[in-house]
Amino acid sequence: MEIVVSGIRSTGNLHLGNYFGAVKNFIKMQEDNDCFFFIADYHSLTTHPDPDSLHHNVKQVLVEYLASGIDPEKSTIYVQSDLPEVAELYLLLNMHAYKGELERNTSFKEKIKTQNENINAGLLTYPVLMAADIIIHRANKVPVGKDQEQHLEMTRTFARRFNHIYKTEYFPEPQAYNFGENLVKIPGLDGTGKMGKSEGDGNAVFMSDEPDIIRKKVMRAVTDSGPEMMNQEKPVEIQNLFTIMKAVSSADTVEHFDGLYNNCEIRYGDFKKQLAEDIIAFTAPIKERIDSLSGDGEYLKKVAQRGMEKARESADKTILEVRQIMGFRPF
Ligand code: TRP
Repeated sequence: MEIVVSGIRSTGNLHLGNYFGAVKNFIKMQEDNDCFFFIADYHSLTTHPDPDSLHHNVKQVLVEYLASGIDPEKSTIYVQSDLPEVAELYLLLNMHAYKGELERNTSFKEKIKTQNENINAGLLTYPVLMAADIIIHRANKVPVGKDQEQHLEMTRTFARRFNHIYKTEYFPEPQAYNFGENLVKIPGLDGTGKMGKSEGDGNAVFMSDEPDIIRKKVMRAVTDSGPEMMNQEKPVEIQNLFTIMKAVSSADTVEHFDGLYNNCEIRYGDFKKQLAEDIIAFTAPIKERIDSLSGDGEYLKKVAQRGMEKARESADKTILEVRQIMGFRPF
C-alpha cells in the first residue's frame, strides 16, 4: 500500500478534461492506496487572494470531487489550511531552499511575466509549500501532470537535502504516480487544443453545466466543411470531437459515426446532437450529486472535519519527528 498525496488547486469548476485527466483515476487509485487529497487553498493565495472567492472555490472543489466519487471512507480528503503542520514544515523547509533554485523554476519564471504586478514570496516558494504538502505524510507517490513534474523534482531535492543535512533517511523521495494508458487527454471544443477554462468561453464542458448549456456548447463546437475523400484522415477539430465521444459514448456509437465519416456521409448536426446527449447522460448523475451536496452544509462540514482529523494525525507525527531531528528538543 503506497501513500499517495494529491493537491487540487481551488480555482475554477471541474470540467470533462479534469475528470478524465485526473479525477476518474483518483477514484480507482483510492481503492488500493492510502490516499490523501487536499484542496490547495494556501497555494491559491499566491494568485487569487480574494476572501470570498477563496471560500467559494474551496467549497466548490470539495463538492465536485465528492460528487465525482472521491470517497471520504476510503480516502482522506481535507483542506490544506486546516493543517497548521503544513505551514510549519513549509517554514522549516524554507531554511534549506535556495533563492537561486527557486528563481530557476519554470512556473515562477512564467508567473513573473504574466503576473508582474504581484510577484510575492509565496509565488517564489510555491514549490517549497508543495513539497511540504507531500512529505508531511511521507508520501511515496504523487499523481502529477506534465506541468507539475518540475515541482515534484524539487520536492525530491528538498527531501534528499533534508536527509543529507540531518544524516537521516526520514523522508522518502516521492515519485510520479503513473496512470499509463488510463490517462485520457480531453480536447476542448474550439478545435485548438486541450479543454480548459482559460481557453475561452464554451471551450470546456463543466460537470455542473445544465443540459441546455451543454447542447449549446457542443452545437457551436468548431468543425470543417466535411470529408471530401473516403477514409481520409480527420482534421484536428473533428478528431477532437471523436476523442470526446470515445470518452462518453458507447463503442457502437463511435463506430457508427466513424463509419459515416469514412463514407463521407456524416452530418455534423446529427453527430453533435448525439455527442451532446451522451455528454449530458454521462455528467447527469455527477451533476445531480453536485446539486444535492451543494445544499448540504452539514455533511460537507462533517467530511472536512473528519478529513482534517485523519490528516492531522499523520501530519502531527511527522512534525514531531522533524522537530526532533532538527534539534528542537525539550530541555
Ligand atoms: N501545484 C499543483 C497544481 O497546480 C497543486 C498542488 C499543490 C499539489 N500541492 C500539491 C499537487 C501536492 C500534488 C501534490 O496542480
